[in-house]
Amino acid sequence: MSYGLLRGKKGIITGALDEKSIAWHVAQRAYEEGAQLFLTNAPVALRLGQPKVLAEKVNAPLVPADLTQVSDIEKLYDEALQHFGGPVDFVLHSVGMSPNVRKGKSYPEIDYEFYQKTLDVSAISLHKLLSVGRRKGAFARGGSIVALSYIAAQRVFPKYNDMSDAKALLESIARMFGYFLGKELGVRVNIVSQSPTPTTAGMGIEGFQAMYDYADKMSPLGNASAAACADFIIALFSDLTRSVTMQTLYHDGGFSMMGISEELLS
Ligand SMILES: NC(=O)c1ccc[n+]([C@@H]2O[C@H](COP(=O)([O-])OP(=O)(O)OC[C@H]3O[C@@H](n4cnc5c(N)ncnc54)[C@H](O)[C@@H]3O)[C@@H](O)[C@H]2O)c1
Repeated sequence: MSYGLLRGKKGIITGALDEKSIAWHVAQRAYEEGAQLFLTNAPVALRLGQPKVLAEKVNAPLVPADLTQVSDIEKLYDEALQHFGGPVDFVLHSVGMSPNVRKGKSYPEIDYEFYQKTLDVSAISLHKLLSVGRRKGAFARGGSIVALSYIAAQRVFPKYNDMSDAKALLESIARMFGYFLGKELGVRVNIVSQSPTPTTAGMGIEGFQAMYDYADKMSPLGNASAAACADFIIALFSDLTRSVTMQTLYHDGGFSMMGISEELLS
């Protein structure tokens, strides 16, 4: 169902790789709610072809940008601003990757070059996206920026590895920029901390299925789906949440408030 919540709004969506991606669901919902979109993903992701399918569905340009590269981000904003003829109302940061996770290094023995890559791709990319956007005057007054996190930023999930550190940094960057962009432009910056979700990135974590099943049994509402996450993010992009900023908002079926559930005791 469409409520027209984003009618007249323009936004950039990063990280839609395939139909499972959280960003894919967000793009579809934003389009249904009346937004005009501009899509981007890493060059390698574009070569896979699937983001092009989404771009056609939501009638949006799709440009390659490695979000660790400031020059790519500059080009991204130049093209988006030209396309829209002005600044954007919302941005979704939906990007994460850890070479240490991919190579099966355990947290106490991570490779430090990989570690820097993890932090750069998964957290510092938000700083770069916001810093370049601010410098280019890319954010409309009253706009909304959302990035995605996981509760391993606060609690220990050993196999989440150095992504835990990246998410803690990501949440801090969102808070800090929430201050500066809030003061300067009335722009909100929030984090959505999402349930385990069966996506390419999610399923790359060792033991994902066990983490998924555990969270599902622990949460009174069960795990939140990617589609439900998209609905929540649409609300955050809309004017209905215009006074919410600098928050880590748990979209997790209640998981973060639980100690133990009856399902796990039986
Ligand atoms: N899946 C989960 O269980 C879960 C839970 C909580 C939070 N999240 C977060 O949600 C976000 C989206 O992930 P997802 O689960 O939809 O997985 P996904 O694999 O569909 O999306 C990850 C995206 O990051 C992109 N990416 C990687 N390196 C990049 C780079 N250098 N520049 C630009 N893009 C790059 C990939 O191409 C991909 O599109 C991530 O921040 C992830 O950590 C996921």
